[in-house]
Amino acid sequence: MERRECKVVSQEEMARQAGFMHLIKEKNAGALMKYNISTFGCQMNENDSERLAGMLTEMGYTHTDKLEESDLIIYNTCCVRENAELKVYGHLGSLKGLKREKPELVIAVCGCMMQQPEVVEEIRNKYKHVDLVFGTHNLYKFPELLYSVLDTRSNVIDVWDCDGVIAEDIPTRRENDIKAWVTIMYGCNNFCSYCIVPYVRGRERSRRPEVILNEIKQLGEQGFKEITLLGQNVNSYGKDLGEEFSFAKLLREVNEIEGIERIRFMTSHPKDLSDELITAMRDCDKVCEHLHLPIQAGSTEVLKKMNRKYTKDQYLELVEKIRKEIPEISITTDIIVGFPGETDEDFDETIDVVKKVRYDMAYTFLYSKRTGTPAAKSGNQVPEEVKKQRFDRLLEVQNKISREINDKLLGQVVEVLVEGPSKTNEKMYTGRTRTNKIVNFQGNEEMVGKLVRIKIDKVQTWSLEGSPVQ
Ligand code: SAH
Ligand code: SF4
Ligand code: F3S
Repeated sequence: MERRECKVVSQEEMARQAGFMHLIKEKNAGALMKYNISTFGCQMNENDSERLAGMLTEMGYTHTDKLEESDLIIYNTCCVRENAELKVYGHLGSLKGLKREKPELVIAVCGCMMQQPEVVEEIRNKYKHVDLVFGTHNLYKFPELLYSVLDTRSNVIDVWDCDGVIAEDIPTRRENDIKAWVTIMYGCNNFCSYCIVPYVRGRERSRRPEVILNEIKQLGEQGFKEITLLGQNVNSYGKDLGEEFSFAKLLREVNEIEGIERIRFMTSHPKDLSDELITAMRDCDKVCEHLHLPIQAGSTEVLKKMNRKYTKDQYLELVEKIRKEIPEISITTDIIVGFPGETDEDFDETIDVVKKVRYDMAYTFLYSKRTGTPAAKSGNQVPEEVKKQRFDRLLEVQNKISREINDKLLGQVVEVLVEGPSKTNEKMYTGRTRTNKIVNFQGNEEMVGKLVRIKIDKVQTWSLEGSPVQ
């Protein structure tokens, strides 16, 4: 892996990449080239895939859902848990036949998994049908790398080991016309002891506020209604910029942008959630009443071993403070079950927090050993069957709470931003409340992109159903 200095990519370099996009377009000479991208992992990866799609659109490629008709297949990978990696290997293995039938097919893999040297070795040795491998830090170089594959017809592997670069002005083709992801910072400095993200995404680096605000202004002009500001820990936004520009200040400025009606953000690390931010959330009318606040574990002992830098009580106090300012807020969380050394008593503390906070929803994960992280070296790993039992118990408790919270919405009128026809039920339209709950209802095309009032007349654990009211 090549070691690189952290820097902002120069305009000359971005122009050079634009040159490669142009060359590829010419090389394809009007042929209808198609691409397919599969994205694993978090919203930041989804946003990266939108950039890959944007660059490919500039190169004259069009999107297809069908692998058989693709000229280029990309896997944008995640390595946060082992099963995310296994899925990618499975997909890559099943592409061998397709590549044999169609040798001109280009197969590319990128993203977090590729930042691990042992993964690149595995692909080099066992997945020889993969043409292109690149990492998280050199995504902006994709046009040049693809050109090299097409030009030389040989494999290209380019992964950098660095604290990261920031590349602006990469063309973006967004998945959704109503809601947009806006990554405001890259990387993570927290080194939670179970987590691989800081190793594969580098150190925290914030995009310049004026660049972010400009991007959101353009989104507003293009008709986007909702934006989600993304970062591994948005609460530490701006700390590396060497000037006074906090996340709270950014939120206040985004709130002034015309056209945008809803603002969301994720993820917030509890240790950095300031009073200034709570006040900004309360004051800004466009900032939705939803907070994703990962607890990870309820036991202070486990939290210490996780290097989370807060105690159970501090977390509970924080939730109380937020609810005092914004009583209608919905709170969601991430929980890891079976961290090394977690005892039954420790796990009871997790259940206790879940019952006290009463989360609207919790994303629950079985602890997964990640090579290179401190927790992976711990001797006292929790047996799989114990993890599973705890996991099921947690799910049962949380599902009951989610359902009870939703039940209270029966008969109430909520504001929904309409996203489009429902994917699961053809006759219905779908959207979300400000508190991020999915609502399905009988709607029409004219409602798409608009805020409509829906009276809830059916409640489920994960979604709501209702009918439009005036
Ligand atoms: N930066 C965000 C989330 C990053 S990863 C945050 O700090 O909240 C998303 C979630 O994956 C984490 O919140 C955590 O719950 C889970 N996760 C991370 N590493 C894991 C591991 N080794 N095993 C199981 N779950 C993990
Ligand atoms: Fe991982 Fe912790 Fe950083 Fe989140 S804050 S990305 S869990 S190291
Ligand atoms: Fe996965 Fe990378 Fe996101 S490891 S969770 S895709 S930052």
